Amino acid sequence: MALVTTKEMFNKAFEGKYAIGAFNVNNMESIQAIAWACKANNSAVILQVSMSALKYAGPKYLRAMVEAAAEETGIDIALHLDHGPDFDSVKLCIDSGFTSVMFDGSHYDYEENVAKTAEVVEYAHSRGVVVEAELGVLAGVEDDVNVAEENATYTDPDQAADFVKRTSVDSLAIAIGTSHGAYKFKGEAKLDFARLESITAKLEAIGIHNFPIVLHGASSVDEEAVNTCNEFGGKLSGAKGVPAEILRKACSMAVCKINMDTDLRLAMTAAIRRSLAQKPENFDPRGYLKDARDWMQRLVDDKIKNVLGSADSMK
Ligand code: G3H
Ligand code: 13P
Ligand code: ZN
Repeated sequence: MALVTTKEMFNKAFEGKYAIGAFNVNNMESIQAIAWACKANNSAVILQVSMSALKYAGPKYLRAMVEAAAEETGIDIALHLDHGPDFDSVKLCIDSGFTSVMFDGSHYDYEENVAKTAEVVEYAHSRGVVVEAELGVLAGVEDDVNVAEENATYTDPDQAADFVKRTSVDSLAIAIGTSHGAYKFKGEAKLDFARLESITAKLEAIGIHNFPIVLHGASSVDEEAVNTCNEFGGKLSGAKGVPAEILRKACSMAVCKINMDTDLRLAMTAAIRRSLAQKPENFDPRGYLKDARDWMQRLVDDKIKNVLGSADSMK
């Protein structure tokens, strides 16, 4: 089963008012956990790798493991570069067999973001690869960049429509209140849904219909995982994510891709901490890595059923 692009996935997700999960992967255990949960739910999925993941595991290993997951499960999997910072990184992934790439030019000024994104789109489209871009700046940590809350800027709807028209990008990541990492909200968790509606309306007004929007920083930061980490020697305080009901609302609107990394990290860390503490005599990594894989699989199963609504999207 060959890897697929996100084109078909997003068309169906927009029509069906659900979203496809985009999970960050770095190793075999996370890839298996996600693929197995998706198989059990007949759900398509996006497996995405960051620049740090590429540095950690290398594009060849990541692609081979993701291809193995697609072959074993028969589900639709897109292999996606998350937050590609420049043309060369994006080109490396396209040339390495990725089916989707993100070029994140959100830190450039607007015209530079348009120009650089358009260059990536031209290269990617001529090779059958789809492109996600970003407009607006999210707060939080991604790769080595830490954006302070006061430097985050929400996406401007008029600019979003102009950007999509001029770049021919396939999907757009927007900033409406989420942030990367485990500490998303100090007070009440809320997203600017009026802005999301306005972005879609502006796109419709210029004849761009059913355009898929991407929500980064969409982990819910499960209390059980945080508490388990802390119970077994971790030190996480004040962690807070996006509640499931808020994500469900986003999925029913134009959001077709929901990015989650932190939730997988927390699940893996919680499971390993607990496993090592409860079985101190064990020194076989397969023991605690299997516990981690099981927890991640349960997590993805829950996301598909209770957040994304993507079960049976393979039909
Ligand atoms: O958006 C950022 C992702 O959570 C990736 O994080 O660069 O540490 O792999 P990472
Ligand atoms: P979280 O930190 O909320 O998991 O977001 C991950 C992400 O947006 C990756 O691009
Ligand atoms: Zn992100």
